[in-house]
Amino acid sequence: VVGVGVDAVDVERFRQGLARYPRLAGRLFTGGELAVVEGTRDPAERLAARFAAKEAVMKALGVGLWRFAWHDVEVEREPASGAPSLRLVAGAAELARDRHVDRWHVSLTHTSQLAVAVVVAEGAL
Ligand SMILES: CC(C)(COP(=O)(O)OP(=O)(O)OC[C@H]1O[C@@H](n2cnc3c(N)ncnc32)[C@H](O)[C@@H]1OP(=O)(O)O)[C@@H](O)C(=O)NCCC(=O)NCCS
Repeated sequence: VVGVGVDAVDVERFRQGLARYPRLAGRLFTGGELAVVEGTRDPAERLAARFAAKEAVMKALGVGLWRFAWHDVEVEREPASGAPSLRLVAGAAELARDRHVDRWHVSLTHTSQLAVAVVVAEGAL
């Protein structure tokens, strides 16, 4: 294990942010992420969990905000089981390579109040 990260997001605050800034969702999330949550019971709750995952990746890599773009970390969903996984591209993928990370694990949970993500970075040091 090269790194571990966790993050919790207040769903109500996140929901208000999305409502107040209509362009925010597109800045934070990829088309794939938005497509997955579209039409679900509460997209804001699911997006909050995906945002938590992106912040948890920063923690696992030991970097702060602005070191890579939000779109550089995408939360995918395995169609059959619903299990989430991470895909890193561009700046985030480069940072991961620098830290010899070659495999990511992610787990999400969310309620109407709180969304939490845990990620584990695995690789050869
Ligand atoms: C995983 C599971 C227990 C979570 O249930 P929950 O407590 O109601 O929901 P939580 O908020 O804690 O977690 C939801 C998140 O769990 C994750 N998740 C869903 N299925 C998962 C699975 N098979 N493995 C790991 N994580 C899973 C997803 O990221 C989901 O969030 P999302 O819907 O926004 O993508 C439930 O979805 C389940 O039983 N899934 C198994 C389904 C399965 O294996 N189906 C096989 C085909 S029928």
